[in-house]
Order: sequence, then C-alpha cells, then structure tokens
Amino acid sequence: MSRSPVPVSTPLPHALAGRTIVLAGGSSGIGLAAGLLLRAVGARVIVVARDEMRLAAAAAAIRAAAPGPDDGVLTRVADAGDEEAMRLALAPIDSIDHVLVTAGTLVMGPLAQMDRKQGAVVVDSRLWAAYTAARVTESRLPAGGSLTFLSGDFIQRPQPGSALAAAGLGAIEALTRGLAVELAPQRIRVNTVRAGGTDTPLTRSFLGHGTDLDSEAADSAIVAAGTATPLGRLAGSQEVAAAALFLMANPYVTGSVLVVDGGQTLG
Ligand SMILES: NC(=O)c1ccc[n+]([C@@H]2O[C@H](COP(=O)([O-])OP(=O)(O)OC[C@H]3O[C@@H](n4cnc5c(N)ncnc54)[C@H](OP(=O)(O)O)[C@@H]3O)[C@@H](O)[C@H]2O)c1
Repeated sequence: MSRSPVPVSTPLPHALAGRTIVLAGGSSGIGLAAGLLLRAVGARVIVVARDEMRLAAAAAAIRAAAPGPDDGVLTRVADAGDEEAMRLALAPIDSIDHVLVTAGTLVMGPLAQMDRKQGAVVVDSRLWAAYTAARVTESRLPAGGSLTFLSGDFIQRPQPGSALAAAGLGAIEALTRGLAVELAPQRIRVNTVRAGGTDTPLTRSFLGHGTDLDSEAADSAIVAAGTATPLGRLAGSQEVAAAALFLMANPYVTGSVLVVDGGQTLG
C-alpha cells in the first residue's frame, strides 16, 4: 500500500484556524466548551446533537464567543449513533479536518438494577456514537486529520454502581487504539481524552439530583464533589476541551489516552 507523507504542522491550537471540526455532542458541557475554544482560534465548527433548541442556544453562544462569520458555526440535528442520520447531516459538508465525539451520558446503579436496556443507554450509545463518527467521516478526513473521543476515570477508579458505565468508557479506549492502528496508513489519528469529574450540565444534574442546574444547591454539590480531589475542585469544561484541541493540533499523537483528571486517579 502506498502511504502518504506524514504531515508536519505546528502542534499549537492556533494551527486549527480555518479548519473544520465536527463536534458530535457539542451543544453542552465539554463539547460546547470545545466549540467556544475553537471559535476563538478561528476554526469552523459543525455542532451535532439531538435537541434542536439546545443546539440553537449553543450556536449563538459559540458565535458570541469571538468574532467570525455566522456560517463558521453550523448545527445539525442528529443522533450521533444513527449512521443514516449522521450521513445525511454531514453530507453537505465538503471538508472535515477533525472530529470530537462527546455524545454520551452517565447512568449508574447496582448490578441488580442495571439491565440490558440500561446498557443500551450507557454503553451502546457512547460506543456507536464514536464508531459511527469514524465510519461517516473517515473518507473525508485528510492526512493529519483526527478523531477524538471522551472516556472517564471510572475506568481506573470505579465506584459501586459504575461497572456498566466503566465498561462503556473502556470500550471507547479500546476502540481508540484499534482505529488508530487501522487508520494510521491514511495518516488519520485517533485519540481519547480521559476526563475526571468535570463541572458540566451532566455532572450538575447527576450531583444536583435534578434541581435547577444553576441553582446554589447545584453549585454546592459541584464544590463538595471537588473537595476530595488533589487539586481541590472538579475540572472546568474548557480545561478538558483544551486537551481535545491539543490532540487535534499535534500531528504526531495517535492511539493516546490523555488523562485530564486533576490527579484524581493518583490514589
Ligand atoms: N462531566 C464529567 O464529569 C465527565 C467525566 C468523564 C467523562 N465524561 C463524558 O464526556 C462526555 C461529555 O460529557 P458532558 O459532561 O459534557 O455531557 P453533557 O453536558 O450532558 O453534554 C452531552 C452532549 O452530548 C449530546 N448528546 C448526548 N447523546 C447524544 C447522541 N446520542 N447523539 C448526539 N448528541 C448526543 C447532548 O445533546 P442532546 O442530548 O441534545 O443530544 C449534549 O450536547 C460524555 O460522554 C460523558 O460521559 C464526562
């Protein structure tokens, strides 16, 4: 097989200026934070999620984050795990340089409660979102392009009730290594950010027990959850998103799991 040359470019995020990045799961949390950072470095983003109103709000926030053309932020309503929907959603996009998949959710519970149906929510949806993004975009990604996925520190630091969630996250890291090897001849890179506890709407609703996400109760739950960590707080969503930008921008990183957990897995 003839192999294309290894592309060389600056590994700094400003190298993403003018690039097109698909954010599957970009209407909230870490994906939205990536959109804000990418807008600030002059990239074009295609934000994909299921809820149309949340997508519109996210697009407005990303446009407002930094000057740039309105069509530098596009939205697509699709379930990231639905290959047909994703192919339709991305069909008009001529060039895609990088893809970040943050679509996924967290459901926890003891073995006796977590049945196959729950597995479809917590394992299948996450795995198929990543795999589908790879299948749908692979032929359009250039040499030096990348796929970046999200996993979490439950893999290394499980808690009672997290077994199925950890299995889904582990599947993402295994997929990362497998696809990195498979796509390396095309010079497409595949990486994962393994995040520790991060202050996002997902975490707030999980810890805040369904209260208003911006309420004092939710703020207090976030602060309390961070106190036991080495750095004394949870991550901000942009701190995790910045790691994804690094993985996109550095053309010599593939098959890597970049841990951004504030030392939470140290012991
Ligand atoms: N927050 C943490 O502490 C933490 C730690 C480790 C790992 N993670 C993982 O990191 C990822 C992002 O977390 P987050 O906290 O940023 O979550 P979040 O705030 O809930 O955002 C999730 C985003 O994904 C979208 N989404 C979910 N399922 C989707 C699907 N099937 N198709 C398309 N879009 C979908 C959501 O929009 P719609 O619902 O409208 O589709 C939303 O935009 C998740 O996979 C999470 O498990 C989070």
